Amino acid sequence: MKLLRWTPLALALALLAGAGTASAQDTPDPNLARNLAATCAGCHGTGGRTVPGSAVEPLAGTDSAVLMQKLRDFRSGAKPATIMHQISKGYSEAQLELIAAYFAARK
Ligand code: HEC
Repeated sequence: MKLLRWTPLALALALLAGAGTASAQDTPDPNLARNLAATCAGCHGTGGRTVPGSAVEPLAGTDSAVLMQKLRDFRSGAKPATIMHQISKGYSEAQLELIAAYFAARK
């Protein structure tokens, strides 16, 4: 009976362990940068291109080092923001690097 009681837990642990081995590191997603950058499109435009008259800066074609410095400054609070200080904290440094490189490569 003891074995039966523990079976669901053991199954759940086995499933979790299985999911862990198929992590993002093992199988790099070629669309990862684009997908991460898509979350910025709502405000900064599709592909980082804003519509004429937009109050928000376009990101497309901006040097990735410049973008990273601005994102780091938002995160640290050095650059005042209404929303970007929160958004920039939602990503790891590696994710921001991917996003910055994606926008830098847009025309
Ligand atoms: C909810 C709308 C919104 C979203 C989503 C958003 N931004 Fe912003 N972004 C802004 C606003 C507004 C500013 C101006 C600073 C402020 O008030 O926060 C800004 C400013 C910036 C700037 C500085 C532009 C400049 O030249 O001064 C960068 C870089 C930036 N955002 C990058 C991003 C990235 C990368 C993402 C996606 C991870 C993103 N933003 C998502 C609204 C948004």
